[in-house]
Amino acid sequence: MDLKTTYLGLKLKNPLVPSASPLSRTLDSMKRLEDAGAAAIVMYSLFEEQIEHEAAELEHYLAYGSRAHAEALDYFPRPEEYNLGPEQYVELLQKAKGSLGIPLIGSLNGISTGGWIDYAKKLEQAGADAIELNIYYIPTDPALASQEVEERYINVLHAVKRAVRIPVAVKLSPYFSSLANVAARLDRAGANGLVLFNRFYQPDFDLDALEVVPNIVLSTSDAMRLPLRWVAILHGVVKTSLAGTGGIHTAEDVIKMVMAGADVAMMCSALLKHGPRHLTTVLADLNKWMVEHEYLSIEQMKGSMSQASVADPAAFERANYMKALNRYK
Ligand SMILES: Cc1cc2nc3c(=O)[nH]c(=O)nc-3n(C[C@H](O)[C@H](O)[C@H](O)COP(=O)(O)O)c2cc1C
Repeated sequence: MDLKTTYLGLKLKNPLVPSASPLSRTLDSMKRLEDAGAAAIVMYSLFEEQIEHEAAELEHYLAYGSRAHAEALDYFPRPEEYNLGPEQYVELLQKAKGSLGIPLIGSLNGISTGGWIDYAKKLEQAGADAIELNIYYIPTDPALASQEVEERYINVLHAVKRAVRIPVAVKLSPYFSSLANVAARLDRAGANGLVLFNRFYQPDFDLDALEVVPNIVLSTSDAMRLPLRWVAILHGVVKTSLAGTGGIHTAEDVIKMVMAGADVAMMCSALLKHGPRHLTTVLADLNKWMVEHEYLSIEQMKGSMSQASVADPAAFERANYMKALNRYK
């Protein structure tokens, strides 16, 4: 079975890539992902807040979402609560690069075009094969128009692209009025890949303490429907590589994502739940499925169920919604 794929111009042995998660916090854990069959690893994110907690530009944007400016800073973890400081992150990446045989993608997570962007260069110098730029922004200010939010994505991408020569992928939110337009603009602005989608963690309420609490719920395969649809719609429409992330747990999930048109299927929750060895199981199941269904390569499957390829392209649009509602018994 030929499982090879190309993502961000990187030749990968298969389409399984562990997405940013605590599994890349140590070299030992990254080694276990590689041994289990990962084709590349996206490291956990280095946050803008970590790099320049006090930067004036950032303070300005925190104020946007919080009303009470001074209190806004309290919502952010103090620097000592982060995993590793920026310099240690760069060191870990460099060490991992020296001992792993698979491509390593550094992850930068931020929303402004401040000095933190310099870290893109540092990750490149430390040996990163590519950068995943996670723009996790929650626009809560009613005065902020969608155009301005979109500009922010483009500006951050431009700043990072100016700083490095390695490929840059953008991990973005599904919450745009016109996602296809944003994707096309990021493509034109030089994005080498789009990672669909950022999973937005919704806060919960603690009813005893009457506090808003962050709590992460791991995904199930159901979460895959949203990225699956958009990968299928964007395949062949944008020139960038496409990565699916969210709800990919099994070999069948991987196959669906590849058929939609993804170059790689990223996994996080499944690996946190079952451990790195789960990759080996998924790879074995993937091989088995391909043999049984007479597929010879990943490339042969790629995009075969994209909107451009299916007999009924309307299945990805409003017509599908009407059908789905009417079919419910
Ligand atoms: C505990 C945890 C930590 C994560 N850390 C990061 C991160 O540092 N940067 C990032 O871009 N995504 C991060 N993610 C998001 C995942 O990479 C992934 O995109 C998301 O969980 C959806 O995929 P899944 O359904 O396979 O979990 C994290 C997810 C979890 C559950």
